Amino acid sequence: MKIGVIGTGYVGLVTAVCLSDLGHAVQGTDIDADKIDKANQGISHIYEPGLEELLKKNLKSGNLSFSHDLHQTIQDSNVLFVCVNTPQREDGSADMCYVEGTSRSIAENLNTYKLIVEKSTVPIQTSMWIKRTISLYKKGDADFDVASNPEFLREGSAVYDFMNPDRVIIGAESDRARDILVKIYKKYSDKILVTNIDTAELIKHASNSFLAMKISYINLMSELCDKTDANVELVAKGMGLDPRIGPLFLRAGLGYGGSCFPKDVRALIKIGEDLGVDLTLLKEVDRINRDRIQSFIQKIKKALWIIKDKKIAVLGLAFKPETDDLRNAPSIYLIEALQKEEAVLRLYDPEALDNMKSVFPEQSPSLLYTDNPYDAVRDANATLIVTEWEEFKNLDLDKIKTLMANPIIIDGRNVFDPEDVKKLGFEYYSVGRK
Ligand code: UDX
Ligand code: UDX
Repeated sequence: MKIGVIGTGYVGLVTAVCLSDLGHAVQGTDIDADKIDKANQGISHIYEPGLEELLKKNLKSGNLSFSHDLHQTIQDSNVLFVCVNTPQREDGSADMCYVEGTSRSIAENLNTYKLIVEKSTVPIQTSMWIKRTISLYKKGDADFDVASNPEFLREGSAVYDFMNPDRVIIGAESDRARDILVKIYKKYSDKILVTNIDTAELIKHASNSFLAMKISYINLMSELCDKTDANVELVAKGMGLDPRIGPLFLRAGLGYGGSCFPKDVRALIKIGEDLGVDLTLLKEVDRINRDRIQSFIQKIKKALWIIKDKKIAVLGLAFKPETDDLRNAPSIYLIEALQKEEAVLRLYDPEALDNMKSVFPEQSPSLLYTDNPYDAVRDANATLIVTEWEEFKNLDLDKIKTLMANPIIIDGRNVFDPEDVKKLGFEYYSVGRK
């Protein structure tokens, strides 16, 4: 079996590398020549723990290769994983033009039977459109199937997640398609759930929106905690002890970001609108998430009164730890809001600095990047914690206190223990805790 992976972005590169590590012959292809050149040299274009080692290992073993030639990759493969991006359009819907373009390329190169697997997150009923497009544009009489195999990879632990799946969802509507995918994932046979394609497509959107809902729910509870003596961490702990609720994804803070949750919630709202199903519940999830930034700005104002001309250190820019990804990162919306208030900003992140420089170019002196957290907090009137990197949990707080102009920490991710920090002489604000 030869597997082609179309699109070697976050999802595609991890998929290609991990499938080859399972022992399959895999070729990745991408319209971005730089990504292919890098991959062929064993360089991962994304920061993802463990990925580069596996990339090098499988290039060396000969299981894995990368090609600039989409047409050749399609012709040479029996199975094609479609991992191109499905960006958000202005109305919230997913832009399917790359999936459509890929479907046409597959049709033009359909020399033998091929199984086309949707890996990208796509709206329910996309497989019907892929089938129709390929049927419309294919020239020969080679047969094909479409299947859905949604990814559940979390950035920062994508390789681990691929190798240790909770479930492998296979949406297939022919025995041939099902059998191929079951064989590919033989190692995880006890984790496989086979459904029809619409169901598999919806499982992905339903899962992400549910997790986003848990986060918005606990963030809403954190507002009640802020106004009373309740502690949101203990509320989450108490809730999570009920196995029907579970303890995960109940961390209150600055809300969810990333390439999936914000986009997928809005896409599902739009899918509901298109199908005549009222998903107002998810509109609230989205609204609560957006409100996190203003709620945090209010906390900063409570501490500083006026933000204008105040020197503020922002620690953490990535949308979550262990990634350099800034897509929909709360830090971006926060920095925009702080710039509106004319703050003087010093920004630091262990991995995302370079990416952030293309979002906010340095503007001396109102916005500068620093190589370490201590330079960021020097003479600051307040330090904000925006991403819960391990590095921040181990900061030398005594040193921070002597470096800052005013020892004020406003912690958007509840990284520190309030008692400990206050004992050190800091004024400390966090989310849903006193
Ligand atoms: C994206 C979405 O964010 C995610 O929700 C979806 O499940 C899969 O697609 P990601 O891998 O993170 O995931 O996107 P990105 O890193 O942008 O990768 C997409 C890749 O496809 C890019 O490398 C892009 O160059 C490539 N691509 C895009 C093609 O090779 N051909 C195309 O026609 C379009
Ligand atoms: C998510 C899904 O978890 C994964 O299954 C899917 O395939 C892609 O989308 P990812 O976006 O990489 O993965 O990160 P995740 O760890 O889920 O976190 C998403 C966002 O939620 C982050 O901004 C994180 O900070 C935030 N979050 C998460 C919270 O605010 N509170 C929590 O309790 C958990």
